[in-house]
Amino acid sequence: RFRGIVQVDDSAWRRVKLYKYKDVSIPGHVVTILDNIENFKVREDDIWVVSYPRSGTTWTQEIVYLIKSGLNFEAANSQIIDDRFPFLEFMYPGIQNVESMSSPRLIKTHLPLGLLPKEIHEKKPKIIYVCRNPKDIVVSYYYFTRMMKPITRFQGSFDDFFKLFMQDKVPYSPWWKHVLEFWQKKDEENVLFLKYEDLKKDLEGSIRRIAEFLDKPLSDLDVKKIAYHCQFENMKKNDSTNFSWGTKLGILDLTESQFMRKGEVGDWRSHFNQDTNEQINKMISFRFHNSGLHFDYDI
Ligand code: A3P
Repeated sequence: RFRGIVQVDDSAWRRVKLYKYKDVSIPGHVVTILDNIENFKVREDDIWVVSYPRSGTTWTQEIVYLIKSGLNFEAANSQIIDDRFPFLEFMYPGIQNVESMSSPRLIKTHLPLGLLPKEIHEKKPKIIYVCRNPKDIVVSYYYFTRMMKPITRFQGSFDDFFKLFMQDKVPYSPWWKHVLEFWQKKDEENVLFLKYEDLKKDLEGSIRRIAEFLDKPLSDLDVKKIAYHCQFENMKKNDSTNFSWGTKLGILDLTESQFMRKGEVGDWRSHFNQDTNEQINKMISFRFHNSGLHFDYDI
């Protein structure tokens, strides 16, 4: 049934390979579970956090988890986020285990709209989509790909990675389509569209927005407690959110970079040159000129 799957040559993943399916680049292990993904049983009371990689997914997940758990900091600090808020298409804990979790389930995915389970459109669970300016994404994704060396074997330069990003030869690309498809759904009742830069500008306000969307209004004190827990430095030193367990699983090489790397808006300025900046600006204006979606590149 899954026709037209082809391997992506010369991609950013040089060990585990990338494939194209419905014009989306997906890692090899995702290809093996396309059927499980398509037919995954969605529940109305699920909460999904959907994003292109390096957009602020983990940050959003931690906020959602704390709101939904009634600020259970003890659980948040003692269980890794992959156990509390699993990644649908990742090897751990595995899609079957995600499917059998008790309700209300919290689910993370990087799959674009067109590859989400069929039932998403019928059951309409709450979906929080988080996006980030693409310049900071490419920088963050570059370091992440190097950090995933045990899987990717990627050791190229930033400019090498930039080229691959622009050619959609990195997982979950094309980036612009991922964002645009959800932007077009932003006014639907079950969708909340967030920007990383807004979380940076106003974390407390963003927490309140998420809580309202989840029908879980918070006191001012609760908002402050969540904001404190979710500060970059705190999430960086928290072993339940900083993916230090990735080293034990043999998938991350934290000597290359950290999962919680810089947590800033505008780091792209120290990585882009005039040429790469012009190329990405062109792509952004071509893809988004009539969309009404604007990105913040600095704060
Ligand atoms: P940087 O590499 O720019 O630091 P994702 O979770 O979608 O993979 O996104 C990871 C990016 O979000 C990384 O960006 C990471 O540092 C940043 N991030 C994670 N938690 C954050 C927080 N609490 N505050 C700010 N940025 C955060």
